[in-house]
Amino acid sequence: RALEAGAGPALNFEPVPVDTSDAFIVPEGYEAKVIYRWGDPVTGAMPEFSPHNTGAEQGEQAGMHHDGMHFFPIEGQDPWQGSSTDGLLVVNHEYIEPRFLHAGKVEGQAMTAWSVPDHAGPRDPDMVLKELNAHGVSVARIREDADGEWRIVPDPRNRRITALTEMEIAGPVRGSDLVKTKFSPEGERTRGTFANCAHGVTPWNTYMAAEENWSGAFVNNDAELPREHARYGVRQGMSRPNWHLAADGADGFVRFDASTKADSAEGDYRNEPNGFGWMVEIDPFDPDSTPVKRTTLGRCAHEGVVFAPVNDGEKVVCYTGDDARNEYIYKFVSAGTFRRGVTRGEILDEGVLYVAKFHDDGTGEWLALVHGQNGLDESNGFVSQADVLVNTRLAADFVGATPMDRPEWGTVDPETRAVYFTLTNNSQRTADDIDGANPRGPNPFGHIIRWHEDGGQEAQTFTWDLFVIAGPHEDSADMHGEALTDDNIFSSPDGLWMDANRRLWIQTDISESVMYRGNHTVFGNNAMLAANPETGEIKRFLTGPVGQEITGVVTTPDHRTIFVNVQHPGATTSAEDFASANYASHWPDGGNAIPRSATVMIRRTDRGVIGA
Ligand code: FEO
Ligand code: CA
Ligand code: CA
Ligand code: CA
Repeated sequence: RALEAGAGPALNFEPVPVDTSDAFIVPEGYEAKVIYRWGDPVTGAMPEFSPHNTGAEQGEQAGMHHDGMHFFPIEGQDPWQGSSTDGLLVVNHEYIEPRFLHAGKVEGQAMTAWSVPDHAGPRDPDMVLKELNAHGVSVARIREDADGEWRIVPDPRNRRITALTEMEIAGPVRGSDLVKTKFSPEGERTRGTFANCAHGVTPWNTYMAAEENWSGAFVNNDAELPREHARYGVRQGMSRPNWHLAADGADGFVRFDASTKADSAEGDYRNEPNGFGWMVEIDPFDPDSTPVKRTTLGRCAHEGVVFAPVNDGEKVVCYTGDDARNEYIYKFVSAGTFRRGVTRGEILDEGVLYVAKFHDDGTGEWLALVHGQNGLDESNGFVSQADVLVNTRLAADFVGATPMDRPEWGTVDPETRAVYFTLTNNSQRTADDIDGANPRGPNPFGHIIRWHEDGGQEAQTFTWDLFVIAGPHEDSADMHGEALTDDNIFSSPDGLWMDANRRLWIQTDISESVMYRGNHTVFGNNAMLAANPETGEIKRFLTGPVGQEITGVVTTPDHRTIFVNVQHPGATTSAEDFASANYASHWPDGGNAIPRSATVMIRRTDRGVIGA
């Protein structure tokens, strides 16, 4: 079943065993150091971390829950070349755990991972501000000094982008009635990005942050939800954080209530949720630049976006997954062609969004989501391209795309251009609705699919296979039909990246709701593995501390330093143990400290190439 021939990259390290300790463990001959934690000072007055930090201080510090990230070499011409000791680290801060964020205020109270203080409202405005500022993206210059230590360096480019930062809306949805709000009556701007899971790196050296699980932050208490809210899970009654219930009624907070307010003279925020669910482009080298929501890439629970390598004269092609049960994988092909040094993000504002249909015989096709094509017209309720894009999921439903087992990260093989996607798990798939591309129902452990486009990257058909089916020994089969072993059993693949040496890095996200229990006991802590795309060999490279997931991975251009993120350590802490400060994890600060998400730097003690 292998699509490639040859030996592929070496995996020259001793695999680390499954582990359940509160430690970050790498193979012999490697060292790991924490370099960038939630709350570390980034910009402005550079406030030091404390559980008592204010909302404004949080806005000048690293956000919570590190996720996708990239290391941009400081010279800044090419995303994958340049300095390996000095660069801008750009990190998504996906979500928050309110009990740890507000630890200074809620000590001694029994709180679960999902408890929100004052949830029923009115909510403390500074706590709401702190929550909004703990989300988003951070840009921090990091440098390896002469003593070999990596440090955060004050720099004019250091920046926090939060759930309050002003953003442009670009592409066909700009100016549409569907995004007009009290804040932007012209429908051209919105405020903030949050739920930023994975990311993308454009061929013109900018960063893209995905908006994934954003819908739970909005409420709409109208009798009936419009389809552009209902299909995405906008809530009625209470939202998950109830930001709209901040006691000061600030405009930046009340907008999270999208109910129709017919008596409001200056307009309302019924369209506010339509400004979310996009891919957001950020230029990390220009701290004054306004982030841009690129609407051609569709609106969904974007996990991330991955760009295929592109040469001058070729169209720009990227792929994005909608991470929810039975949602879809998308591909965008630009109208214009790429020119190195000239092309900028505007090339993404014109082109075609497709959705994937996987046939059981190993072939597949890309179905265009274009107004007037494939039945996406007025007679079927789609009045414009803006309407198609705001309702991307409904358009994909309509054309008959293949529902997938939660598409997470993707990556493109730099040599063969094969595309890989993780399908993390799907508790809702049943034995009756399995198909070739999603062959297990229910699917508690996930798998990785890959395809080759038939012809150029912009082709409309492809050929696919399954790279690996994850799970315990008896329930898995790799590409050769062999069960996984003690050296590589894993579950719930999520982060995925193939480096320039073609090592495929696989990161796991077993949910804290099933971690260490039942059929997930055997996997221990979440981990990162390395795979050879040609032979299918897989080895466990590292394991993280208790309760976390490993997510985000990038090497320096010389491949001698690799960065990964540890997200939500200690999320498995029970409400009772929180009350007694007996956290499931005290990583990385140790002692009785509250756990903090963080970026970890890993290298060989002999400074050789990672994995070689
Ligand atoms: Fe935020 Fe799909 O993981
Ligand atoms: Ca993820
Ligand atoms: Ca997660
Ligand atoms: Ca996940």
